[in-house]
Amino acid sequence: MSKPLVIVTGKNGQLGQELKLQSEAAEIFDFLFTGSGQLDITDNNALADLFDKHRPRYFVNCAAYTAVDKAETEQDKAYLVNAEAVGRIAAQCRLHNCTLITISTDYVFNGKGTAPYRPADATEPVNYYGYTKLMGEKLALENNPATIVIRSSWVYSPFGHNFVKTMLRLMSDQKEIAVVDDQRGSPTYAYDLAQAILAILASLDDGNTAYGIYHYSNTGMISWFDFANAVAGLIKTSCVLKPIATAAYPTPARRPAYSVLDCSSTEKTFGISAPHWKESLVACLQRLGKTMP
Ligand SMILES: NC(=O)c1ccc[n+]([C@@H]2O[C@H](COP(=O)([O-])OP(=O)(O)OC[C@H]3O[C@@H](n4cnc5c(N)ncnc54)[C@H](OP(=O)(O)O)[C@@H]3O)[C@@H](O)[C@H]2O)c1
Repeated sequence: MSKPLVIVTGKNGQLGQELKLQSEAAEIFDFLFTGSGQLDITDNNALADLFDKHRPRYFVNCAAYTAVDKAETEQDKAYLVNAEAVGRIAAQCRLHNCTLITISTDYVFNGKGTAPYRPADATEPVNYYGYTKLMGEKLALENNPATIVIRSSWVYSPFGHNFVKTMLRLMSDQKEIAVVDDQRGSPTYAYDLAQAILAILASLDDGNTAYGIYHYSNTGMISWFDFANAVAGLIKTSCVLKPIATAAYPTPARRPAYSVLDCSSTEKTFGISAPHWKESLVACLQRLGKTMP
């Protein structure tokens, strides 16, 4: 008997690369991984051809326009990739009886909250990237009710561009670095998020139909400064870290001051519990060969 096929987009991104590595152990599925070279998700004909040819049972959309600051000026491009294309993927999924998992962000919230955000809490993005991701969520759920949206936050990995890799580079190049200390959230190791997605796929394949919006991040709340400080402690750098306020580090896109996600419904519905952020940071740095004995 043939196994259910899972098509994954964004295979060259942080999450896509982690999923590709871990999918080797997920023997109950066949996987087809695509990067923008194989499938431009904004190309509707290519998308339709892919669905017609492969008839996937599950579609995991890890592709996204993720340049948060650039999205302020490249609004059309960001909207096309993060909203319109996700809506079209969902429409193809509905046509082919395929379940969609698509990834969203903590940046759908305005950051004025004081307790971890639950999936049903009011959204109000403070930047254009967040707006496009929120529209992507809406179009996905409207066009294909068999959709799981997973909002995550502060994603890092040994791959691509992310905060941890930027800190490692700056700590080796500079004597002192300033890091914002008044934005709070939870980091997410892409390895853990990939594990969660595979567990959700297995649960769906077992007959779970609890579609909707879920949250997944590592546990614990920190600031970017705390995160950088933890990296510094683990690699034992002599670089000095200085906490600064967001106001002292202006960026084109505003960021929410608080974006901790309440992941309890993910744990309840899919039996997935996330590791603490520090444990996962150690694992990532070990993989990068950066931790000192
Ligand atoms: N990074 C974070 O801190 C963060 C936080 C919360 C949520 N998220 C969400 O998590 C998901 C995964 O993020 P990530 O960090 O893994 O992103 P990433 O490393 O930036 O990778 C995104 C991938 O999307 C692909 N892509 C962009 N435009 C495309 C198009 N038109 N057609 C096909 N592929 C396209 C790119 O493919 P190529 O390389 O092949 O061009 C890229 O590899 C995204 O939905 C993101 O919004 C990320």
